[in-house]
Amino acid sequence: MVRARIIGTGQHLPEKVLTNLDLEKMMDTTDEWIRQRTGIKQRYVAANGQGASDLGGPAAARAIEAAGIDPKEIDLIICCTTTPDYLFPASACLIQHQVGATKAAAYDVNAACSGFVCGLTTANAYIQAGIYKTIVIVGTEVVTSRLNWKKRDTAVLFGDGAGAVVVRAENGDHGILSTFLGADGGSGDLLILPGGGSRNVVTKENVDTGVHDISMKGPELFKKAVVVFGEAVQQALTATGLAINDIDVFIPHQANTRIIYAAADRIGLPQEKVFLNIDRVANTTAASIPIAIDDAVTQGRIRSGSIVLLAAFGAGITWGSIMLRW
Ligand code: UT7
Repeated sequence: MVRARIIGTGQHLPEKVLTNLDLEKMMDTTDEWIRQRTGIKQRYVAANGQGASDLGGPAAARAIEAAGIDPKEIDLIICCTTTPDYLFPASACLIQHQVGATKAAAYDVNAACSGFVCGLTTANAYIQAGIYKTIVIVGTEVVTSRLNWKKRDTAVLFGDGAGAVVVRAENGDHGILSTFLGADGGSGDLLILPGGGSRNVVTKENVDTGVHDISMKGPELFKKAVVVFGEAVQQALTATGLAINDIDVFIPHQANTRIIYAAADRIGLPQEKVFLNIDRVANTTAASIPIAIDDAVTQGRIRSGSIVLLAAFGAGITWGSIMLRW
């Protein structure tokens, strides 16, 4: 059977590190509050003028190098981001140019923090249908470009970064075993960036009104997240016929350690199987899962044959899961 198999991973983080102690000097918060409530100790912050493709391009290049392929073999680049360089052209096109994937189609996907799981699901469908053979999926974000550093309820949570994977059509047992996506558009107000789109265009008058800041109903989102994570995992188990004990590594979207552990408890997954890097990179939205995959590979947590479960949730609200055999 043909499966989409991840054959290379990569990441790229900005140079600048902002610790919780740095944030203490910028707003009314404490290192203790941030660590206890979220698990975050630091985050990376892009330089002024650095766009999503400036992080996503190098991450993709590393994944391509790790896969050992020629960029001209790539059929498609999917860039998952909520903070593209421009409203158009798509950041995927900028990345295509940077990595020299001259034969690849390229487009962006915006499903907020679930973006990478949506992108990988789409890639899997193309491969299953026999349309494409080699696809690069990039998750890249410069979320700090959209933060108001005076708003402690959101400013402490996010960080910038990019991760990427190369998937290729292969015959055999290794690769993606199941995919599942969900959405509840009625809960869109739980996490929203109201300004800058077609509804609330940027005007001189509205720049200072807060309409261009991320707005989040944290505690409500927290409760929803635990429930939809559970559903996403259950869907993956049902689709594959695997049991919770078969999972070797659970790589969740890194939004909050407490959400992740509450979801793991709910599904009966021991904490030692959960992969976390939120302490180092914070919540990098669509980049969170591919950065974590790359970290898990580098640290030897994922090996050939490992059963890996990815699960995400985010604004929309959206959620999803992917089970794969590495
Ligand atoms: O990527 C997907 C999207 N994001 C999420 O899924 C995030 C989901 N939500 C969360 O992770 C949590 O709700 C937060 C981390 C955002 C907040 O944690 P919480 O335990 O739900 O805290 P809270 O919002 O109920 O606030 C508790 C207190 C409040 O003070 P009072 O009213 O109890 O006096 C807040 O004003 O903590 C205060 N607070 C802060 N204190 C210090 C809120 N933000 C901060 C802060 N530093 N940065």
